[in-house]
Amino acid sequence: MLKRMWLVGLTALLVFSLLLVVGCGEAEDVVDDPDVDLPDVDDTDDIVITVAAGAVGMELELTRDLAEMYSEANEGVTVTVLDTPDMADDRLGLYLQFFEAQSSEVDVYQIDVIWPGDLAEHFVDLYEYGAADVADAHFPAIIENNTVDGRLVGIPWFTDAGLLYYRTDLLEKYDLDPPTTWDDLEEAAQIIQDGERAEGNPDFWGFVWQGRAYEGLTCDALEWIASNDGGTIISPDGVITINNPNAIEIVEQAAGWVGTISPEGVTTMAEEESRAVWHAGNAAFMRNWPYAYATSLADDSAVAGLFDVSPLPAGRSGSGAATLGGWQLGVSRYSNHPEIAADVALFMASHEGQKYRAVEGTFNPTIMDLYDDPDVLEAAPFFGSLYDVFINAVARPSTVTAPQYAAVSELFYRAVHDVLTGQKSAADAFEELELDLQDITGFPVE
Ligand code: GLC
Repeated sequence: MLKRMWLVGLTALLVFSLLLVVGCGEAEDVVDDPDVDLPDVDDTDDIVITVAAGAVGMELELTRDLAEMYSEANEGVTVTVLDTPDMADDRLGLYLQFFEAQSSEVDVYQIDVIWPGDLAEHFVDLYEYGAADVADAHFPAIIENNTVDGRLVGIPWFTDAGLLYYRTDLLEKYDLDPPTTWDDLEEAAQIIQDGERAEGNPDFWGFVWQGRAYEGLTCDALEWIASNDGGTIISPDGVITINNPNAIEIVEQAAGWVGTISPEGVTTMAEEESRAVWHAGNAAFMRNWPYAYATSLADDSAVAGLFDVSPLPAGRSGSGAATLGGWQLGVSRYSNHPEIAADVALFMASHEGQKYRAVEGTFNPTIMDLYDDPDVLEAAPFFGSLYDVFINAVARPSTVTAPQYAAVSELFYRAVHDVLTGQKSAADAFEELELDLQDITGFPVE
């Protein structure tokens, strides 16, 4: 697993360096395709459909499995998978290069739940390619999220919500209950961390999460803020709400975790870095998405059989909040084979495709009746016990701010990161953020 993570890291680094090189190159009249290594399929006369997909946890291998299943069942078509950077921001950067070049190299893109509004123009309307027959089976809110001006720009593939992972063995050892508030979590994390270090593990930490300056921090911080009655940065009807005492209070509290119950380095961690600490058995609690459940059960996991998941802790609001994440499959307008590409996307996101990924990799289906499927519930019991968390997840303000969501989110996570790294107080950071958000959105302040 470690070896694989290194590989994933190296690949991401390589792609990222290539992006930098491409990004710094001379401006040219003709935009070239991004300089990435596309899967090698020279030895076939088949129509080749390329799917740009993620590689977090078990994602890549499961997408490859589905590609193979489709290719085997459909003579004359070979589906290949392009491995893209783990971090949403980097992946978006790569996609934008393909779009700018109007490249036909990639036919199907795995797109984040926050992107339909920003990227709609680059995708075909899947309603014109058979999606109308299956749309009703998916969570209506996600179909609505993916519908821009009446066009379905992505078929929902899997949904995500932030969860609290905790060590059942250590809670028992220190006679603690799973925490239901951030204050409880702080206290339990400190007790366990002190105890484990005293017993000789200097690498042990109370709580790991995603504190790097990237989209994942927007997700974590939105959870803190929403759970503390601090709103959702910008309300669904377009009012900037971020500069409020409850939001300021909880982000200051989170800044207090850095270097105490969480490593200083948490401010450079994305999902996979925080998971590595957890996976090695060196954390009492972790905030992460459902994919980390399957990976925590793997043979090389130090925590297999020693953990469970719960809703994230609550602040002032009295209940925890989970950010709504998840990914869709969109078919590029620049594909040479949109019909076949759409068929591939609809297969991967079908009942069969989603069930496979749910059972093998604990990726949450978007097809509602899979939450009643005994095989799915056996592999991922929390899909049933935490069902409410998934359907009540809090959306980022991507629809209301489209096509500027990425810029809004970057301003937000940079402001939060400045607080976590001690460069600014939350009060100052959010006062400035409020002005910056007014500038780019033109929205009023609460
Ligand atoms: C997960 C979520 C996605 C989110 C990303 C942030 O992949 O599904 O929606 O943007 O994490 O890191």
